[in-house]
Amino acid sequence: MRFDLISIFPDYFAPLTLSLMGKAEDAGLVSVEAHDLREWATGKHRSVDDTPYGGGAGMVMRADVWARALDEVLAIPLRTGDEDGTLASSRRILAIPTPSGTPLTQPLVEDLACADQIIVACGRYEGIDARVAQHYRGVGVEVLEFSIGDYVLNGGEVAAMVLTEAVARLLDGFMGNPDSLVEESHSGAGLLEYPVFTKPREFRSLQIPEVLLGGNHAAIERWRRDRAIEKTAAVRPDIALSLRADSLGREDRAALAACGVAYPREGAARPVDIRRAEVGDAHALSALAARTFPEACPPDLPREAIDAFIAAELSPDMFEAVASQPERYRILVAEVDGALVGYTLTVVGKGAIPDECVRPGKVEADAAYLSKCYVDAPWRGSGIADTLVERALADAAQCGHTSVALGTNRANKHAQAFYKRHGFRRRSTRIFDVGGVLNHDVVMVRHLTGADGRQLA
Ligand code: ADE
Repeated sequence: MRFDLISIFPDYFAPLTLSLMGKAEDAGLVSVEAHDLREWATGKHRSVDDTPYGGGAGMVMRADVWARALDEVLAIPLRTGDEDGTLASSRRILAIPTPSGTPLTQPLVEDLACADQIIVACGRYEGIDARVAQHYRGVGVEVLEFSIGDYVLNGGEVAAMVLTEAVARLLDGFMGNPDSLVEESHSGAGLLEYPVFTKPREFRSLQIPEVLLGGNHAAIERWRRDRAIEKTAAVRPDIALSLRADSLGREDRAALAACGVAYPREGAARPVDIRRAEVGDAHALSALAARTFPEACPPDLPREAIDAFIAAELSPDMFEAVASQPERYRILVAEVDGALVGYTLTVVGKGAIPDECVRPGKVEADAAYLSKCYVDAPWRGSGIADTLVERALADAAQCGHTSVALGTNRANKHAQAFYKRHGFRRRSTRIFDVGGVLNHDVVMVRHLTGADGRQLA
């Protein structure tokens, strides 16, 4: 790949002969040519700029000088067949650094790395006469006006070097170890990179995260991915909302939702707020419950029974009563764009488990009871339910519980698999009355303390 960097300060580009960039040039992988714009200037003073039409501060670089330079550099044959322009397959890009340009991002850099030649026209002063970009676009040249950030430099040279290095390092054979490219910031899903550590093992009493010291590669990979997600959500919420959704697995989505970013199955990601319900949420909660409860019922359950259950158990009054007793009933809600899209209801304290539902002796008497966990259909698989459950478990642990029990319809294998992923195990069965129709549920229990007594939730 060929880079032609045109500037009134061609010496600026000397650092590109160093390090990996210099090696790549020696190896013939890239060629970097710096050109002095003044070679195409005329007159005694070889002037390249003039005062702006319309007035204003500073000087503007002349289109005629730039055009002479660019015509010549754009005509350089890149390979045999190019001399007479018959080889149309060469991709040449005219890149113009400017603070008003398109942000230079990794996906853009990845695209530029497919070009055969990138010519960077480095402006100084107030920039280059706008007709330069207009003209070359007009004659079919691919023109990219790009910015390396929301700040103003003295000229385009530093931006040209940034572009050159960012593009060149993606070329096959540039990196000693191409694996380095795979997990770095902005690659793959677009996440920022996870933190890295090396020797010494202890530095000023700071330790290496335990998981990195064991050989469990899957656990290490998960830990790194979770840290990358946390970092991205904290430092670049804009990036967290615009990741490549097809590169996000279920656990990624759960980690993102825990950081306040929900990726629905379809459509754009949205910020999600997971919070305690207030009494004022009662109507919205009742409506959400009425929408979601029927979807969790077995298909043969009559609609009248479902409606009777909703009227009796999921009314606004019921939610108002429950939300006003937070010492007994803990409700967490997930809110997206001002609407409730998911909730959990956990009963805590002594006698939380409804004993008419649980066979005696099968569930710890002091368990908390996860009575409800529902998420609106478009947000299933977004990680919202995972976050709600994990927060509910943590809350139950904080209330002093060492286990949490729940019941779910025995036909609902999807729900059982979900709870299993969250550490619940099948323990018992119960009969659950929905509007006078008796249903068979499985009862599942999750312990909140490990064998070593460590809190897990
Ligand atoms: N020239 C001056 N400032 C610049 C920036 N932020 N990006 C690209 N080119 C520039």
